[in-house]
Parts: sequence; structure tokens; C-alpha cells
Amino acid sequence: TTVEWEAASYDMGGHDTYMHKEIHEQADAVDRVLRGRIDDRFSTVHLGGLNLDAREARRIRRVKILGCGTSYHAGMIGAQMIEQLARIPADAEPASEFRYRNAVVDPDTLYVAVSQSGETYDVLAAVQELKRKGARVLGVVNVVGSAIAREADGGIYVHAGPEVCVVSTKCFTNTTVAFALLALHLGRTRDLSVRDGKRIIEGLRKLPAQIAEIMEREDDVKKLALQFAEARSMLFIGRVRGYPVAREASLKLKEISYIHAEAYPASELKHGPLALIEPALPTVAIVPDDDLLEKNRAAMEEIKARSGRILAVAHQPQEKADETIVVPKNEDELDPILMGIPLQLLAYHTALALGRDIDKPRNLAKSVTVE
Ligand code: G6P
Repeated sequence: TTVEWEAASYDMGGHDTYMHKEIHEQADAVDRVLRGRIDDRFSTVHLGGLNLDAREARRIRRVKILGCGTSYHAGMIGAQMIEQLARIPADAEPASEFRYRNAVVDPDTLYVAVSQSGETYDVLAAVQELKRKGARVLGVVNVVGSAIAREADGGIYVHAGPEVCVVSTKCFTNTTVAFALLALHLGRTRDLSVRDGKRIIEGLRKLPAQIAEIMEREDDVKKLALQFAEARSMLFIGRVRGYPVAREASLKLKEISYIHAEAYPASELKHGPLALIEPALPTVAIVPDDDLLEKNRAAMEEIKARSGRILAVAHQPQEKADETIVVPKNEDELDPILMGIPLQLLAYHTALALGRDIDKPRNLAKSVTVE
């Protein structure tokens, strides 16, 4: 089934592309995913559709997140949030791979299917296979009433509103926020303190204004994009929280600009990618101001020593980089929600400079409902 969104939502609202419109809708979209869910009294969140009581939540021993494309990357960020805030082992895997490796399905594992459309065949089939084996599956979905939402035992709607551009931006951001809510909720049924709960809630409340702040720097990002449009290939690096951000930024760039891009954990540079470094291969480094800052600086130094060009996305200007896009700092656990946003703009303006069909990139579909 498809659900009817209000016709007004499809208006371009003065933007030249849906992608540009959807990037700019993110502050409002994040406001929507938070609305009505925060419980200040107990420093937690209420997720009405989860269908998981506190006793069941405490019994979870592992979380496995499944999705495809951008939703898989949002799931990688979600897994780290769950592990950090709830101390439950968690990881994400492409739904298509999970389906075909005859994975051990464990009754104490919570499975979470992530999908903007709620119709991606590989994700739906994974959900059906899990349910057939008696597993509990939640959906983190945008389209209300979609196949995955109906098939799941419960879940969280991400309320991003209709996303028309083939590549996902606002829905990715809202999905990562939805995972922060789930991680906070699971954390507060376990050992996450009231104080940490409050800290995360305060961080969540800051997100819309911080996103608006990032949007104000669009012109600077656009100037950088004009330089990158000449690159034939780009490298994206990050560590731990920065790594899924690097992966998603790399995916976004290749999807709409057709520039080859590859993401690597910064720690793996010396095990291969350093061989590629030369002036013609720019690197985008995700450099949050957290306990890995020095390690990330060292990685940038390795690249500089080989005459590589670096664009850093960081919380303060980076000396080792040629350019830095400064992003507002939030709580460490929530930083990945914001750090990729300027890179959506970078991909966008790079693709625009190259004259690409941004809303409908060649060979791709918004939702892949066949195998
Ligand atoms: C397609 C789209 C991607 C999207 C993926 C998963 O490949 O082009 O942008 O991330 O499907 O879609 P879903 O609706 O399940 O999130």
C-alpha cells in the first residue's frame, strides 16, 4: 500500500530540486521526530509503538540492525548509540547479506529493520524470515502503514515527511535521531543514569537549531564543492563514530555526482589506501572533538606528508587540513547526527556543478521492491 501524503508536501517551495528542499527541511523534520516523545520527569523517552515492556527490554542481550543503502548507514550509527548508551552489544548489517548467510537467530536478540520506504524487498524478506523463526523485529520506518511497518512487531516512525529525491537526506538524519531515542530508552531501562539521560535529552533538543546553523554555511560549502567537482575520485575517512558518517558521505557523493568515492576507517589507511594518496585524490576527514581527536590528527598528518589534499569536517578549524567545515558540537554520542549534514550539501553542489540529474540519478531507484 502507498500512503497519501498531503499534496502540499510535494511542492518544491522555491527550491530547484527536491534534494535541496529536503536537505533544508531537516531542522523541522528533527523537531517532528522528537515531538511528544521526551519524558523529562524520568529523563527518558516514550516510544508508543515499540510494543516492548520494561521487562522485555531488559531481557535483550544483543541488537541486530538490518537495512540497505543509506538506511544501513543510519543503522551503523544506531548500533553505536545503542552500544554506548544502553551497553547492549549491537551491530548493523546489509539486510540482503543477512538473509543469505543462514544467520543464527537468537531469541534474546532484538532485530531492527530500517527502511525509509518500508518497501525494500531485501529488508522485507529479512523481516519475514526472522518472524518465521520466532524472532522479535522492530521497524524504524518513514512511510506509515508500509509493508515493513505492518510486518514488524512494533517500531518507531521517523516522521521525516515525504522524501521524493532518490537519495535520502532528511530521512537519514531522522533515522539516526530515532535510534538515539531508542538507545536512550533502552539505556534508561538499564544502567544509564538520570544525569546521562538528561545530558542526551539536552543534546537532542539542541539539534534543530544546530542544523539551521549548518545551513547558514551553505555558501562556503558550495565554494569547496566547485573545487571537488574536478576530482575523479575521493577518499572519506573517520574513526568509530566518524566512520559511518564517512561511509554515508561517500555514498551520497557517488550516487549523485558519479565521482568515485571510497570510505575507510582512518586507522586502516596504513594498511592500503595510503598507496593511493597524491594531490589528485582529495580526502574528506571526519574529525569530531572527542577522545579520538589526536588519532585523527595523526591520520591527517600521514596524508599531508604524501601531498594529499584534505577537507576536514570538525568542531574546530583543523591545522592539518587544507580546509575545515566547522560543525556545532553536541554530546559525543550525538555528533554523528550532525557531521554528515554539510557533506550532503557538498555532494549536492558538486553534482550541481557537474550538471547531474540530482533528484533522479542514473541507474538508481527510490525504492527497490524486487530482489
Ligand atoms: C535505494 C535508494 C537508497 C536507499 C535504499 C534503501 O537503493 O536509492 O537511497 O537508501 O534503497 O531504501 P529504504 O526505503 O529501505 O530506506
